[in-house]
Amino acid sequence: MPLTRTPTKTTSRPAAHAPAGDTLLRADHVQLGYWTPRGFNLAVGDASFEVAPREKVIVIGPSGCGKSTLLKAIAGFITPTGGTISVSGRTSLEPGPDRAVVFQEFDQLFPWRTVLDNVAYPLRVNGRSRRDALARAQEYVELAGLAHAADRYPHQLSGGMKQRVAIARALALEPAILLMDEPFGSLDAITRQRLQAELNRIVDQTHVTLLFVTHSIEEALVLGDRVVVLGNSPSNVIEIVDVRDLGGPETVEYGQMRGHLRDLLAVDKPIADDEEEEVLDGDGS
Ligand SMILES: Nc1ncnc2c1ncn2[C@@H]1O[C@H](COP(=O)(O)OP(=O)(O)OP(=O)(O)O)[C@@H](O)[C@H]1O
Ligand SMILES: [Mg+2]
Repeated sequence: MPLTRTPTKTTSRPAAHAPAGDTLLRADHVQLGYWTPRGFNLAVGDASFEVAPREKVIVIGPSGCGKSTLLKAIAGFITPTGGTISVSGRTSLEPGPDRAVVFQEFDQLFPWRTVLDNVAYPLRVNGRSRRDALARAQEYVELAGLAHAADRYPHQLSGGMKQRVAIARALALEPAILLMDEPFGSLDAITRQRLQAELNRIVDQTHVTLLFVTHSIEEALVLGDRVVVLGNSPSNVIEIVDVRDLGGPETVEYGQMRGHLRDLLAVDKPIADDEEEEVLDGDGS
């Protein structure tokens, strides 16, 4: 199926399709929410999208729109209240090593284990021999550029290094899909850029399928093949855009797409519009 690449100013429904071929992940009219003492709180109203094998799909949307909730449902931590999520054709999704998750927080490592053991431990839990687990862990620690720090403990690492360990640990499981929830959100701008480039390299080398949550348009453009744009909570998919082959930030296409995504994310903010009207009214009186 041809890919739509040209940014348009329309706010029409989801457009860019996953490349033809098997679908690895399919979210079909997914609805997600939480029971609170005051009743059911709907977070994701209706989300549908697909991810093809080896694709890099970014989920972007305003804070609180349900990005993490969606990722947790794909990981199998919570169950949709409506619609279905299927991964490799399966809809009954218990958490499992086929959907490894990397979170934003730096404290997702075991503090009492070395870098190498942090990466090896889930392999042991999933049935590999100690020798096998350590050999594979070493491989992924090297892939993440951490060979020199393999024997260090988490408290001896920078934030960026901790996130590299988390990425190595997730990839060592050789998941069908790598789920990442704002993994670089707590890093300084320079480290963040460096890790984005590193992630691109690692994903290209391992051919892992990526579903990456962010609220950064720049990050979406640097990392993604396609971007699923969610609106305010209870969210639905406003549009799906293809962002591969845009070239670097200096190209016209990149600038247009950045503008388009900014428009999309702003369009769905009626409160901001009201505020603007109020300001204008105030100015006019
Ligand atoms: N465990 C929970 N119990 C009740 N409500 C929750 C829970 N987790 C999230 N929510 C609510 O669900 C909505 C979506 O939250 P979620 O964390 O998925 O948003 P998000 O898009 O990831 O936001 P951010 O960009 O700030 O990380 C929010 O209104 C949030 O308050
Ligand atoms: Mg979140």
